[in-house]
Formats: sequence, structure tokens, C-alpha cells
Amino acid sequence: MANLNTKRFFIGILSIAFLVVLLFAIYKETQKQLPNYKPEPVVSESTRHCMSCHDEKGEGKIIVEQWKDSKHAQVGVGCIECHKAKKDDVDGYEHHGDFIATIVTPKDCAKCHEKEAKEFTASHHADAGAIMGSLDNVLAEVIEGHAAFNNGSNPAAASGCWQCHGSRVAFLKNEAGEIVRNDDGIPRFDPKTWPNTGIGRINMDGSKGSCSACHNRHHFSVAQVRQPENCGKCHIGPDHPQLEIYKESKHGINFYAHREEMNLDAQPWIVGEDYKAAPTCVTCHMSATPDQPVTHEIGARISWTLRPKVSEKVDAALIKKYKKLGQPLPDNFLTWQERRGNMQNVCSQCHSKDYVKNFYIQFDNSVNMYNEKYGKPGLKLMKALKENKLINPVPFDEKIEWDWFLLWHHEGRRMRHGAAMMGPDYTQWHGNFELAENFYTKMVPEIKELIKKAKSSGNVSGANNVQKVLDEVLNSEMHKWYLGKMSPEEKAKRKEASKKFRERYTH
Ligand code: HEC
Ligand code: HEC
Ligand code: HEC
Ligand code: HEC
Ligand code: HEC
Ligand code: HEC
Ligand code: HEC
Ligand code: HEC
Repeated sequence: MANLNTKRFFIGILSIAFLVVLLFAIYKETQKQLPNYKPEPVVSESTRHCMSCHDEKGEGKIIVEQWKDSKHAQVGVGCIECHKAKKDDVDGYEHHGDFIATIVTPKDCAKCHEKEAKEFTASHHADAGAIMGSLDNVLAEVIEGHAAFNNGSNPAAASGCWQCHGSRVAFLKNEAGEIVRNDDGIPRFDPKTWPNTGIGRINMDGSKGSCSACHNRHHFSVAQVRQPENCGKCHIGPDHPQLEIYKESKHGINFYAHREEMNLDAQPWIVGEDYKAAPTCVTCHMSATPDQPVTHEIGARISWTLRPKVSEKVDAALIKKYKKLGQPLPDNFLTWQERRGNMQNVCSQCHSKDYVKNFYIQFDNSVNMYNEKYGKPGLKLMKALKENKLINPVPFDEKIEWDWFLLWHHEGRRMRHGAAMMGPDYTQWHGNFELAENFYTKMVPEIKELIKKAKSSGNVSGANNVQKVLDEVLNSEMHKWYLGKMSPEEKAKRKEASKKFRERYTH
């Protein structure tokens, strides 16, 4: 009897235990279905050591919270897995028994993300720190700012240009040339150069760029990095208003209207499979299509460079560069046609082939018109002014130099960017209109004035040479209207069009 009761008792207990386990398993499964479900982080022994201080009581403790919410935490990539340094790393230091570095560079991420790091390093992004010495750089280093602050730093560069382009990171040194450390023995970074997440940052380990320019730490969330605003930290403002252009385009309108359906945290994120409403910056420039993998080479789908005074096809600039270096073209060299093909493959997920083809004809025409009407003549005129000593060699000390800079660097780029990314207001009112206004009401009258001044100060031959170039430009097909020299046929055509317009709008 007693035996049977004990048996029943154990069976009962086992059944209850089984039921509890089953209920718990069901509970766990349902939890996983919840939208905000996060599994427990996987913490390695050495990372546990880091967290013993950085969790809860440490400085910057929210870092740990952010990390716990990340994909990295789920797969056991913790503090030490990223921050660990080798004994001979120039940026490493002893920290409570571990040898670590504060800055996790592309070289460090490359240990696990080789493909992304390789593509990023080969892109223009990684080279964006090499602007020192450019014309824009003179603007910041000399004209706008002054290097007399914070131990010889120039705030215009340190808090401006470098925050987008990247600084050259360095530790702070004392007069004897030794690294300055804080009370805990942690080397202090030179505040001229850090904090900085510029896209082309030059790191102490020799690597270029920063992954955290786009991937905000410590979430490293793919939803965050796919937001248009993410690129907009840098791609914004009067000389490269890509974010503003995107927002006014039909693509931006559709994105903001259907953001919830965009599935921004899906991995992978394939246009047409994971989302359909609209392309973001990343869709067109980086993300996967059913035929193309994700790329961190943001130039892989671009055929023009729209930045210089006169636009060229992207491979023209590269071919010149390799020729200058005396190097053969690399095996994986992409021609502009191949790059354009990559972009058109993105468009054709949502548009027909001919629609896309016509768009590119409109876009090419805009770039070519800018080149012929403003870029090339502007260059020719500025060269003539300089060679004939109507302006001096000091950059930016004369008004015409500012007007020319605004023409190509602001207005001309805005127009080209507007045409590339379907922002008609930037193409027209912030672009073509201002190009014309600048050229006809500023540059041309100022050149005439400079000619007059040169003549009266004895530089007659210089004045005549520039007059010749100006006459050539103004008598050309695109500019002769300015001299009242429109052909009779063209005049008649304009008159007829104007009459028809009045007829249409008077009733
Ligand atoms: C014994 C406690 C303790 C442990 C263990 C510890 N830290 Fe720290 N850590 C600190 C404190 C405190 C600071 C702030 C120091 C300061 O500002 O002087 C700090 C600062 C840092 C910094 C910022 C340094 C800078 O340049 O601003 C990093 C990065 C860091 N810790 C990473 C780690 C990693 C990775 C580990 C594990 C390998 C770790 N810590 C283990 C206490 C600790
Ligand atoms: C996936 C890699 C990765 C992991 C994991 C990671 N970090 Fe970082 N951490 C970074 C990057 C990247 C930076 C910023 C460097 C830069 O700007 O490029 C950084 C910067 C820091 C800084 C200094 C910046 C600041 O805002 O003060 C501290 C402190 C730090 N990490 C602590 C931690 C701690 C503690 C953990 C573990 C909970 C951790 N990190 C895990 C990549 C990582
Ligand atoms: C020790 C290896 C390791 C290091 C170092 C590392 N990662 Fe990761 N990372 C991983 C693994 C593993 C995953 C998960 C991959 C997966 O789910 O397919 C991941 C995922 C990611 C993701 C995708 C997140 C998501 O939500 O899908 C991003 C973005 C990322 N890492 C960026 C970085 C960056 C930037 C660095 C350097 C600052 C870095 N990682 C350093 C191993 C690492
Ligand atoms: C808000 C971020 C930001 C700031 C601040 C900034 N830039 Fe830029 N810069 C960019 C972006 C983005 C581009 C690329 C634009 C494009 O492709 O249309 C660029 C392009 C350039 C280029 C052209 C590079 C090439 O390959 O043709 C130069 C040179 C340059 N910047 C120098 C500077 C200098 C010098 C400063 C400070 C006076 C500065 N920039 C400030 C974001 C910035
Ligand atoms: C210009 C911004 C930008 C920079 C800089 C950048 N990434 Fe990314 N990264 C992205 C975007 C956007 C995605 C998401 C692409 C997608 O799937 O749509 C991504 C995705 C990833 C992923 C997830 C897997 C994948 O390829 O989709 C990893 C891992 C990653 N990046 C690592 C890195 C590393 C490492 C660096 C530095 C060497 C880096 N990224 C620099 C924008 C950037
Ligand atoms: C931290 C600043 C920064 C961020 C963030 C950034 N960029 Fe850039 N981007 C630049 C700069 C600077 C250049 C010009 C680099 C040069 O020419 O040296 C550039 C150039 C480019 C180019 C031209 C590439 C070429 O080969 O001509 C493309 C396309 C581009 N970025 C797309 C993006 C996209 C898409 C994002 C967001 C996922 C993004 N960028 C995020 C700063 C940034
Ligand atoms: C619908 C697709 C699409 C979207 C969305 C898009 N772009 Fe573009 N982008 C293009 C095309 C097309 C070009 C011109 C390509 C060429 O030269 O062949 C271009 C050119 C560029 C350039 C090169 C400019 C230069 O000076 O050479 C940059 C930088 C850029 N885009 C950044 C962005 C950013 C940042 C966003 C989001 C705010 C964005 N793009 C959104 C398609 C797109
Ligand atoms: C994810 C789908 C998607 C992708 C990818 C895409 N588009 Fe679009 N596109 C749209 C939608 C949606 C509209 C808005 C249609 C409307 O006006 O009703 C649109 C509108 C347009 C317009 C009309 C603009 C206007 O103001 O009327 C042009 C031109 C265009 N896209 C060209 C392109 C080009 C070129 C590419 C590739 C560089 C591209 N699209 C990539 C979805 C896409």
C-alpha cells in the first residue's frame, strides 16, 4: 500500500514538474514573439570582469545597457572582444589587468567583419580625412578660423570640418614628449583630435575611417544606420544637401508616409522582399537587391562625380590617379558603365527599364549643361584673371573669388545633386536660378570692373586679354542673349510661346 502511494506521489510530482517546465517553455516561446523581446546577453569571462565595474556604478554605465540591447550581446561579442588590444598596439594600455584600446577602429572590427572593412577602406569615405591642404581647407585653417586655441588647434577645423571628414587621432603629450595619463593610468587623447567620428578619421593604428561614423555605438543597430538622417549628419547643408533633396523627393515622401512598413531592422534587408514602399539613401547606394549583395563601397553605384568645378565620370578621375601614381588599374576596377548598371539594377526593382533610361538622360543633360554653361567658362575666366594679374594670387581676398567658389561649390553642386536625386526645387531655385543670378549679376559685372581698373592702372594688355576671353564666353550660343544677340528665329519662337501662354491663362 505504502509503496503504491509513494509511486503515485512521485508520478504526481513528476507530472506537476513536467507541466511547470512545459508552461515555462510555452511562456518563453510567447515572449520571443513579443515585439520588444531581447534574449539574455551572452557574457564571456573577461567581459564579466569589465562589467563588474562598468555595469551600474561605472562611468558611462548606460554603455552597458546599450550593449545589452545589441545583436553583439546575443552572440557573445562583449567589451573585451572589441576593445582588446595587442601588446604592441600603439593605442593600447593596461586597464585593470587587461590590455585594451579605447577606440575600436576598422582594423579591430575587421577581425570579424573582414568584407565590410575591406569595402569601406577601398571607398572614398575612408579617404575623406585627406582633405588637409585642399582649397576648402585653406578656408577653415586660415580664412574662417585661427589656430591659437587649445594648444594650437583651430576650432573651425576641429569642431567643423574634422567632425565630418575625420581628424588625425593622437594622444596628448607633455613638453618632454611623454604621453599624458589620468589618475587611473589611462592615456589622455589630444582634445584637438578626439572625440571624433569623422568618416575618414586617421587612426593611431594606421587604419582609415571610423565604422562608428554610421554605426552608433553601442547598439550597432541596423535600423538606425538605414535611416536617411544617419547619412544626413554629413550629407546636408548648402554644398551637399542630399538629405534635404531626398526629403523633398517622391522617394522621401513615400518613405516618411510608410516608415512602419519599411522593416528597417530586418536582416538581410532586400528591396522588394523585405520592403517595397520607397528607397532610402542606403537602398540606392549600399543595400542588397535580389541580384546584388550589400556593399560598403559607396562609390560602386555612382557614374559621375558631382563635386568638382567641372564634373567628370568617376572612372576618369581614378584612371588619372593611377596614371599619376604610375600604377596599373586594379583587377576589380569598376568602369562608370558598370557602376551605373549597378544603380539601374536598384531602380529597376520598382520602375520600368525605359523610365530609368529616360531619367538618366535627364540627369546627364543637367550635368552636361552645368559643365558647358557655367563650369568650363567660369574656370576659363578665373584662369585669365589670374594669369593676367587682374586678381592677385592670395585666395579669397577678392570678392570674385567668393562668388566663383559659391558658383561651383554651392550652387553648381546643389543643382547637380538635385537632378541626380529627384529634388526639383534644388535643381531649379537653389540651383540653376542662383547659378544664373551669380554668373550674370555678380561675376560678369565684377570682371568688367576689374578690366576697367586694370586699364586705368596701366595693365592694358592684361585687360585686353581678359576682355577677349569674356567676349568669347558671352558671344557663345548659351550666353549671347545677355548681349541682346538672340537670333531672330529664337526671338520669334519666344514671342510665339509667350502669346500662347497668355491665351491659355486669360480664361
Ligand atoms: C576595476 C574597475 C574596472 C574594470 C575591471 C574595468 N574598467 Fe574600464 N574604466 C573604469 C573606470 C573607473 C573608468 C573611467 C576612468 C577615468 O575616467 O579615469 C574606465 C574607463 C574605461 C574606458 C574609457 C577610457 C577613455 O579613454 O576614456 C574604456 C574604453 C574602458 N574602461 C573599457 C574597459 C574594458 C574593455 C574592460 C574589461 C577588459 C574594463 N574597462 C574593465 C573601471 C574599470
Ligand atoms: C562591437 C564592438 C564594441 C563592443 C562590443 C563594445 N564597444 Fe565600447 N566602443 C566601441 C567603439 C566603436 C567605440 C568608439 C570608438 C570610435 O569612435 O570609433 C567605443 C567606445 C567606448 C568607450 C569610450 C567612449 C565614450 O563614449 O565614453 C567606452 C568607455 C566603452 N566603449 C566601453 C565599452 C564597454 C564597457 C563595453 C561592454 C559593455 C563595450 N565598450 C563594448 C566598440 C565596442
Ligand atoms: C569578435 C567578433 C566581432 C567584432 C570584433 C565585431 N563584431 Fe559586429 N558582429 C559580430 C557577430 C558574430 C555578429 C552577428 C552576425 C549575425 O547575426 O549574422 C555581428 C553583428 C554586427 C552588426 C549587425 C547587427 C544587426 O542588428 O544585425 C553590425 C552592424 C556590426 N556587427 C558592426 C560591428 C562594428 C562596427 C564593429 C567594430 C566597431 C564590430 N561589429 C565588431 C562579431 C563581431
Ligand atoms: C556637415 C559635414 C561636413 C563638414 C562640416 C565639412 N564637410 Fe567637406 N564634405 C562633406 C561631404 C558629405 C562631402 C561629399 C559631398 C558629395 O559627395 O556631394 C564633402 C566634400 C568635401 C571635399 C571634396 C572632396 C572630393 O573628393 O572632391 C572637400 C575638399 C571638403 N569636403 C573639405 C572640407 C573642409 C576643408 C571643411 C571645413 C572647412 C569641410 N569640408 C567641412 C561633409 C562635410
Ligand atoms: C556610410 C555608413 C556606414 C559606414 C561608415 C559603415 N557601415 Fe556598416 N552598414 C551600413 C549600413 C547602411 C548597413 C545596412 C545595410 C543593409 O543591409 O541595408 C550596414 C551593415 C553592416 C553590417 C551588417 C551586415 C551587412 O553587411 O549588412 C556589418 C557587420 C557592418 N555594417 C560592419 C561595418 C564595419 C566593420 C564598418 C567599418 C569598417 C562599417 N560597417 C562602416 C552603413 C555603414
Ligand atoms: C561622418 C560623415 C559622413 C556620413 C555619416 C556619411 N558620409 Fe558619405 N561622404 C562623406 C564625405 C566627407 C564624402 C566625400 C569623401 C571624399 O571625397 O573624400 C562622402 C562621399 C559619399 C559618396 C560619394 C562616393 C564617391 O565615390 O564619389 C556617397 C555616394 C556617399 N558619401 C553616400 C553616403 C551614404 C549613403 C551615407 C549613409 C549611409 C553616408 N554617405 C554617410 C561623409 C559622410
Ligand atoms: C532613388 C535612389 C537614390 C536615393 C534614395 C538617394 N540617392 Fe544619392 N544618388 C543617386 C543617384 C542616381 C546618383 C547619381 C549617380 C551617378 O553619378 O551616376 C546619386 C549621387 C549621390 C552622391 C554623389 C554626389 C557627388 O557629389 O558626386 C551622394 C553623396 C549621394 N548620392 C548621397 C545620398 C544620400 C546621403 C541620400 C539620402 C539622404 C541619397 N543619396 C539618396 C540615387 C539615390
Ligand atoms: C523601392 C522602390 C523604388 C526604388 C528602388 C526606386 N524608386 Fe523611384 N519611385 C518610387 C516611388 C514609389 C515613386 C513615387 C511614384 C509616384 O509619383 O506616384 C518613385 C518616383 C520616381 C520618379 C518620379 C519623381 C517625380 O517627382 O515624379 C523618378 C524619376 C524615379 N522614381 C526614379 C528612380 C530612379 C532613377 C531610381 C534608381 C536610382 C529609383 N527611382 C529607385 C519607388 C522606387
